[in-house]
Amino acid sequence: MLEIKNLVVSYGSIVALHDVSLNVVAGEIVTLIGGNGAGKTSALKAISGLVAPSPGSIRFQGEDITRLKAHQIVKRGLCHVPEGRMIFANLTVAENLDMGAYLRTDAVEKRATLQYVFSLFPRLKERAQQIAGTLSGGEQQMLAIGRALMSKPKFLMLDEPSLGIAPLLVKTIFEKIVEINREQGITILLVEQNANLALEISMRGYVLETGRILLHDHSPALRRNPEVRKAYLGGG
Ligand SMILES: Nc1ncnc2c1ncn2[C@@H]1O[C@H](COP(=O)(O)OP(=O)(O)O)[C@@H](O)[C@H]1O
Ligand SMILES: [Mg+2]
Repeated sequence: MLEIKNLVVSYGSIVALHDVSLNVVAGEIVTLIGGNGAGKTSALKAISGLVAPSPGSIRFQGEDITRLKAHQIVKRGLCHVPEGRMIFANLTVAENLDMGAYLRTDAVEKRATLQYVFSLFPRLKERAQQIAGTLSGGEQQMLAIGRALMSKPKFLMLDEPSLGIAPLLVKTIFEKIVEINREQGITILLVEQNANLALEISMRGYVLETGRILLHDHSPALRRNPEVRKAYLGGG
């Protein structure tokens, strides 16, 4: 479904990604794990059209999207929940969700998606009129995911959904990610520093280290891999 070949991303003289290739098959949850500064966010930004790769190619459902603009990529069903959530802090929960559907025109279908988001995250329904900036970190993450779902994505990319969130809510959010994948058939690329959690819910994973893919495998195999255990799972 998503096929990335020989992707390079640089910021001036800083090369954030060197020759990264990865693929995601429809229906999968794939995780990209790596420490701080490994290049995870840069990879997602390149896929979303927020930074231009040079060189490299990105194909989505068979189409070359490497040079498309961000809104054209969203229109094709590829949606990105950014690191740090980036909700509109001064708008209400309901207004934030509505912004997620800005490219959609069918009011009836939009309402159905909103009902789905509220059933997935009842907390958002309770807080619909609350100013988003006053939500807790975990609630804001739910809102960011809900807003992405409002665009009716086929493919969802999540950038560190566990970052800075209370453990109990992290567990809920990860359960919901699995539910979105299983019940809505949405393919997921999950970027995480929390490798334990990410490898638990994903089918396959890629390990990114200083801009290069170090290894990739099925997630259970990565969890048993001594190198991965030592560097990312806090074990020997
Ligand atoms: N806008 C930017 N300008 C310059 N360097 C950047 C920029 N964004 C990221 N970088 C650098 O690119 C590298 C990868 O960063 P990033 O993709 O954010 O990693 P991660 O998400 O894995 O923490 C880091 O060395 C970082 O300092
Ligand atoms: Mg990042």
